[in-house]
Amino acid sequence: MELLRAKQLNGQIEVPADKSISHRSIMFGAIAKGTTTVKNFLRGEDCLSTLNGFKELGVPIEDDGQTITIQGVGFEGLKPALGPIDLGNSGTSIRLMMGILAGTNFQTTLFGDEYLNRRPMQRVMAPLNQMGAHLVGFENTQYPPISIQGAKLAPITYEMPVASAQVKSAIIFAALQAQGTSTIIEKEPSRNHTEQMIKQFGGEIEVSGKTIRVTGPQQLTGQEVIVPGDISSAAFFIVAAAILKNSQVVLKNVGINPTRTGILDVLEAMGGTFELSEIDEANESATITVSSSTLKATTIQGADIPRLIDELPIIALLATQAEGTTIIKDAQELKVKETNRIDATCEELQKLGANIEPTDDGMIIHGPVQLHGGKVSSRGDHRIGMMLQIAALLTEKIVELDKAEAVAVSYPHFFEDLASLIN
Ligand code: S3P
Repeated sequence: MELLRAKQLNGQIEVPADKSISHRSIMFGAIAKGTTTVKNFLRGEDCLSTLNGFKELGVPIEDDGQTITIQGVGFEGLKPALGPIDLGNSGTSIRLMMGILAGTNFQTTLFGDEYLNRRPMQRVMAPLNQMGAHLVGFENTQYPPISIQGAKLAPITYEMPVASAQVKSAIIFAALQAQGTSTIIEKEPSRNHTEQMIKQFGGEIEVSGKTIRVTGPQQLTGQEVIVPGDISSAAFFIVAAAILKNSQVVLKNVGINPTRTGILDVLEAMGGTFELSEIDEANESATITVSSSTLKATTIQGADIPRLIDELPIIALLATQAEGTTIIKDAQELKVKETNRIDATCEELQKLGANIEPTDDGMIIHGPVQLHGGKVSSRGDHRIGMMLQIAALLTEKIVELDKAEAVAVSYPHFFEDLASLIN
């Protein structure tokens, strides 16, 4: 498709609901006892994969268009699916469900699309197998379809080799079903929605620095969940407003959980103009107003990486408009996202004239550079597609995007929301 162009952006939008919390709301609703209601659920393809997956496991779930209602069955109430469960593009669905299914007394097969079926699963299979479940990948590889034969689980003490909320969450879900105390040591702190929601659903979890302790078995109770907006979706507009001239965008109800706000720290370090208002501490949400900015380069590394891992493609675009050399390192995990996001970001932005080089664990970006038109591809990755649309705002000539439909994975109304800010 031909991408939108704009000289400036002005106005206000409410970004879609948080993807990580939406997935977990269905999962917690299913494994709790009693009714869970979810308001502002993200009806993107990924979260719908989770919703359908739990329906296939026998959990009654209804959507009246406003509220999702889940009749929780508890871990022990999950039933074998009639066949393999298709989780589309969704890494969060498959990895977290592996942890939930590890403690059942039946077998399940989980698979996804061509991208998901190439993503590494050993990182989740290894600890769950150590706890006593039996998980195997396709033809004994670590790739989906994954067969999970559930079992009575033993607790685990596990030092994580990667900083990953998906791996951490899978182990926590298994630990909730194991007999005894599990200890998980994170490599770096990653998003903590699973830990927060255990408490919200009446369970217990102890977090001290990078060490997490969970004692099973636990019984959770259904709750009302109100999902805040997704800062990872807001990120595209945050960057757009900062890099376009004469722009100001107001983003309402954006989640500001501190494990997710790395992009705001980067924008601050780069000299960006933005402010937070209407801060709701309990709901961890705020209004973020971003204006045209004069940007300077920065270095992004270490413990900051998990706090902005999904935002690195759009941060790379931000850096193309900043004065100086921005360095992103310690971000090897980008290679195993929906696509290899180091290659995808660098190669696609190079097609538009960016001065950006891939490295083994990140990227080096020299700016500022005037981008030009061209033909690019999302490569089937929603965040690469949205990043390229924001890049296209800056070009004189047209940018054509292949595989634009990928954006529906996390942001079905992305192009409409963007168009509403162009005046
Ligand atoms: C997610 C964790 C992150 C992130 C993904 C969502 C989650 O993945 O990239 O989009 O909801 O737990 P990793 O845990 O693999 O870093």
